[in-house]
Amino acid sequence: EVGPGAGNILSAIKGRAELIPGVESDTLGYGQDYLGPLLRFQRGRTASIDVENRTDDPITAHWHGMHVPGYLDGGPQLAFGPGKTWSPELPVDHPAATLFYHSHVHGRTAEQVYRGLAGMIIIDDPEIDDPLPRDYGVNDFPLIVQDRSFDRSGRLTYDLGMMGRMQGFHGDDVLVNGAIRPKLTVPAGLVRLRLLNASNARIYDFNFTDGRQFHQVASDGGLLPSPAAMVNLRLAPAERAEIIVDFSDQSAIRLVSQNVGSGGMMGGGNNTATLDVMSFDVGDASTSGPVQLPGSLPATVSDLGEPVRTREFILNISSGNMISSMLNNLIGQDRQTMGINGEPYDMSRIDQQVQLGETELWRINADMMTHPFHVHGVSFQVVTMGGRAVNPAEIGWKDVVHVEGPTEILLQFDKPATIDTPFMYHCHILEHEDAEMMGQFTVG
Ligand code: C2O
Ligand code: CU
Ligand code: CU
Repeated sequence: EVGPGAGNILSAIKGRAELIPGVESDTLGYGQDYLGPLLRFQRGRTASIDVENRTDDPITAHWHGMHVPGYLDGGPQLAFGPGKTWSPELPVDHPAATLFYHSHVHGRTAEQVYRGLAGMIIIDDPEIDDPLPRDYGVNDFPLIVQDRSFDRSGRLTYDLGMMGRMQGFHGDDVLVNGAIRPKLTVPAGLVRLRLLNASNARIYDFNFTDGRQFHQVASDGGLLPSPAAMVNLRLAPAERAEIIVDFSDQSAIRLVSQNVGSGGMMGGGNNTATLDVMSFDVGDASTSGPVQLPGSLPATVSDLGEPVRTREFILNISSGNMISSMLNNLIGQDRQTMGINGEPYDMSRIDQQVQLGETELWRINADMMTHPFHVHGVSFQVVTMGGRAVNPAEIGWKDVVHVEGPTEILLQFDKPATIDTPFMYHCHILEHEDAEMMGQFTVG
């Protein structure tokens, strides 16, 4: 855990992690062999961090979901090389939430995140009385979920193949906080699980083996207005969900995920069976935290008013000539060119200019497959998803929306970004992002 204040060092290093017990893999991490420490920031304070690069390649540290100006955002323009240090001072101006941080070097994000340059951020808001379990490591647990593949000897491998270039990487095993199928002992009572889908491309559909009901209490950007009951939870890449599970009946259960196709056209990943995620053992009764779930939550979702402008985005699997792009893909060309609105990402082109403080409606759709669409520097509200109205679990601040058909979001930017360090919008299937399904914009 790294709190706010001076002198926090986050050192990106090359690691040797035993992801499969007894077998070392080549990994990357922020200050540890694989992944980074939980960063815990308090709203209203400034978090000063020295990000060091002790790897062999350029890296960045992007604070996914935080509202910080472009020059602090850690996007592609802020990549820095081996031996260098980047020292952002982050004003923490965000409601209590579970966020994400990861490297964001253009063209290398997928492999760097795959190897381990990622972690979770928790924002606490001292002004808000959080009525949920919040005893870290006791009844409140971070769960970073990632799918990975291993070779015969148990070493981590990243082989895309043709399907992976099209659909993004899908692994055969699921890691939670860097451990394969871990077991967690929880108290008999209400437990808060902070789920972060830090996978490159996999969509999860989580459920418990006994089919029990649980409640989602927060999404990407913070608390929902009220707990939403469910028996399964869909989480696309980079999405977060905080759920409350009642373990007071003391039965040991497992968290699993049903396989979900990564897009209408191509179907699922290379595994059609149920994926094992982790298991739970139940210990003694809780001694802290609420015994009952409150009916309403101190959410911060506000009325953004009427949009003054509408923008349209089409996510393209092939930008330019679709046939030649698909042929290139079939013959195994290394990099496939995808894009948004027919244009592959260009680091030196500004695609949109947004006015600070104005409410906008963004309409997003895709020409093939489904995509998790992410916007930097802002939290937004989903208006329609795949042409339908949102359900209670989707009312809340989001920064990723899974685009399965015509989708509309309302946004209002409160942080600036200039042409030197613009904000990004992109597909969070990291192989799509690296293949240019990204655009950038200024706010001012
Ligand atoms: Cu998770 Cu462009 O970010
Ligand atoms: Cu982001
Ligand atoms: Cu995509």
